Amino acid sequence: MSGSKSATRNSNRPPEDGASPRGRYWRLVALSVASAAVFAVLFYLWGRELFPRAAGRWGKTFPFVGAVTLTLAVALFLSEWFGFAGREVRKVRLAARDFLFLCSLVLLLFFAAKAVIDLLAEVPTLGRGVPTRVYAYLIPLPAFAMVVRVLINSETSILFTVAASVLSAAAASGSWPALLFLLLSGTAGAARARRVPDRYRMLMAGVQTAPVCALAAAALEFSFHGGGGVLSAAIFGAVNGLLSGPIALAVMPVAESAFGYASDIRLMELSGTGHPLLSRLMKETPGTFHHSVVVGTLAEAGALAIGANPVLCRVAALYHDVGKLGKAQYYSENQAGAANVHDAMSPGLSCAVILSHVKEGVRIAGEYRLGDRITEIIAQHHGTSLLYCFLDKARPMIRDRKASEEMFRYPGPKPKTREAAIIMLSDAAEAAVRSLDHPAPEEVDETVTGIVNRVYLDGQLNECDLTLRDLHAVGRAISRVLAAVAHGRVDYPPSAV
Ligand SMILES: [Fe+2]
Ligand SMILES: [Fe+2]
Repeated sequence: MSGSKSATRNSNRPPEDGASPRGRYWRLVALSVASAAVFAVLFYLWGRELFPRAAGRWGKTFPFVGAVTLTLAVALFLSEWFGFAGREVRKVRLAARDFLFLCSLVLLLFFAAKAVIDLLAEVPTLGRGVPTRVYAYLIPLPAFAMVVRVLINSETSILFTVAASVLSAAAASGSWPALLFLLLSGTAGAARARRVPDRYRMLMAGVQTAPVCALAAAALEFSFHGGGGVLSAAIFGAVNGLLSGPIALAVMPVAESAFGYASDIRLMELSGTGHPLLSRLMKETPGTFHHSVVVGTLAEAGALAIGANPVLCRVAALYHDVGKLGKAQYYSENQAGAANVHDAMSPGLSCAVILSHVKEGVRIAGEYRLGDRITEIIAQHHGTSLLYCFLDKARPMIRDRKASEEMFRYPGPKPKTREAAIIMLSDAAEAAVRSLDHPAPEEVDETVTGIVNRVYLDGQLNECDLTLRDLHAVGRAISRVLAAVAHGRVDYPPSAV
C-alpha cells in the first residue's frame, strides 16, 4: 500500500534460486530417486541383520531383494502418512520440499538409531551391567522433533514424531518400551521448542526435555523389565534430552541451506542492521527503511494480539519493500519535499514502476538468500490490490473500465498466511496514517478501521487463516501503536530546538 500511497501462486513457494517450476520439480524428483538409492544401499547393508529369518529362504539374493522391498515398503508408509496429512490436515499443507525433508529426517533417524545401538554394544565398559535394550533411550528423536517444529510447525512435528517412532523402534528390535519412549520423548521435545528465537532457548528446550525423558525411560524400563536397568535407563534418557538442543542446533543450519527454510534463529540474524541488504536499504532508501521499521513494529504488535509469529512479522516487514532499491525517487517516503516524479509521467508508466517493486523484491530476496518465509511475504504483501490513485488519474483517458482496472492491480498472490496478512494491513495502515497531519487517536482509529474494512471487502484476505475476530484484534493493535507514534510527534517552538 505504501507503493500506491507514494504516488501514491497459487505458487505458495516463490523461487528462491531462480529455477523454473518445471526445473524445481525435476530436481526434487532427482533428489528423491538419489535418496531412495542411498537408503536402499543402507537397507542392503543391514538387511540380513534386520530380517535374519528371511535370509534362509532367499539365500544369497536376500540382502538385495530385501533392501529393495523394504525401501518400497518404507516409501509407501511415508508417502501415505505424510501425503494424507498434507492433503487433509489444514495446518500441515506439505509442499514437495517439506515431504522430502521429513522423509529424509525419518530415515536418517532410523539409521542414527541403528548406529547408536550397534556402536554402544561394541563399547566394552558399557557392556557390563547395562542391558543392550537400554541404548534405545539414546535415540535422538527429541532433537529431530524440535527441528521439525522450529522449521515447519507443531502439527507437522507430531506427525513426524509418530512416523519416526514407528520406524526407529524397528532399530531397537521393535520393542514396546522403545516405541513408547520414542513417542513420548519426541512429543516432549517438540512441545518445549515453542518459541526459539536464539540458541540459548534451544539449549534450554533440551534441558527442560531431559527430566521428562529420564522419568519416561525409568518408568518404562521398570514396567517391562523390573529394576535391573532403571538407573542406566534414567541416565540415558536424561542424556538424550540434554543433547537434543545441541543436536538440533547442529542439524538446523544444514536443513536451512539444503531445503531453504528460515528458523526464528536465522530470522533474528537477518534482523540486525549489519546485514548487507538492510544497510543498503538504510543508505539508499532511508525513507523506505524507516517505513519498514514502523511496519515491523505494527506487525509485531498485530501478531502478538492473535498468537501469530511476531519474529517473522517484524523481520519480514523489514524486508517487504526491498524491491524499491534502485528506484527510491518513485516512492513518496523517499521524496522528502522534492518534486513528485510521477507528475511528469503517464499513469500507466507510473503504475508499471510501482507494481514492479514486488517482483524485484522477490528477485533481491533470492539473491541475498533470505529464505522462503520472507520471500513469500514479499510476494504477497500487496496481494492483488488496486493502485487507486493512478487509476483515478488515468480514468479520463480510458474507456473499458474493467479491463483497465486489471492493469492497475498488483499481480499477487494474495496473503496465504496470517503473518503475510498482518504485514499487508500494517503496511497499508502506516501509509494511510502517515498522510494525516497530526491526527488525533480517534482519527487514527477511524483510518485504520477503514483500511482493514477495505482490504477485507476487496477479498485480499480470502486465502489466509485470519478470522474476523483476529482481524479486529490486529486492527486494534495496529491503531493503538500508530496512535502512540502519531501522538508522540510534538511541535517544538523554533527557540526550543
Ligand atoms: Fe510498504
Ligand atoms: Fe510494497
